[in-house]
Amino acid sequence: MTAQPRARTLEELRREAASCTACDLYARATQTVFGEGPEHAEVMLVGEQPGDREDKQGHPFVGPAGRILDEALALAGIARDRVYLTNAVKHFKWREKGKRRIHEAPSVAEIRACKPWLDAEVAAVDPRVIVPMGATAVRAVIGPGFKVTEHRGEPLDLPDGRRAVATVHPSSVVRIEDSAQRSLELHRLAGDLAVAARLVGA
Ligand code: URA
Repeated sequence: MTAQPRARTLEELRREAASCTACDLYARATQTVFGEGPEHAEVMLVGEQPGDREDKQGHPFVGPAGRILDEALALAGIARDRVYLTNAVKHFKWREKGKRRIHEAPSVAEIRACKPWLDAEVAAVDPRVIVPMGATAVRAVIGPGFKVTEHRGEPLDLPDGRRAVATVHPSSVVRIEDSAQRSLELHRLAGDLAVAARLVGA
């Protein structure tokens, strides 16, 4: 089944999405983690899916990836409360490993099932620039076949007249063990975010 959002305002969408059963992920997740931010932000950042912390707290990017994203936003001179932050998939997909819940990447079918919510958020917020972070978000926002590693940070025209600036997912920075390399990648992420900010004159 596909999600069929009827509501228009973000608050209505959030309420509707809370009971979404368009794919099976809802069954093992604590809750739907909907996007957050200003009703009419000029920039929308899109991640993959909520992680363990986000699933428990019900807010996007409040765990380790969120901390890296906060650092990158600060380096880029962007206030977090000026951007709308959401995910391509709104339920946490995980498998059990001992006592831990380990993240699993969403399938193409799960990304597709959740797409109507992302489309509805885009319609409600009406951002000028969308920043998909990582392969899942890139697939949802731009489509399959787009190589983030080759085209990160490059402004791209979307069919609906908006622009996109793809970048890597903040969790790819979290995973880098070497601190010099991590710092380099953090600054590259910040550079990509700064490109998006410049497009809206921020
Ligand atoms: N990773 C994501 O893609 N989104 C979140 O909200 C948290 C971690």
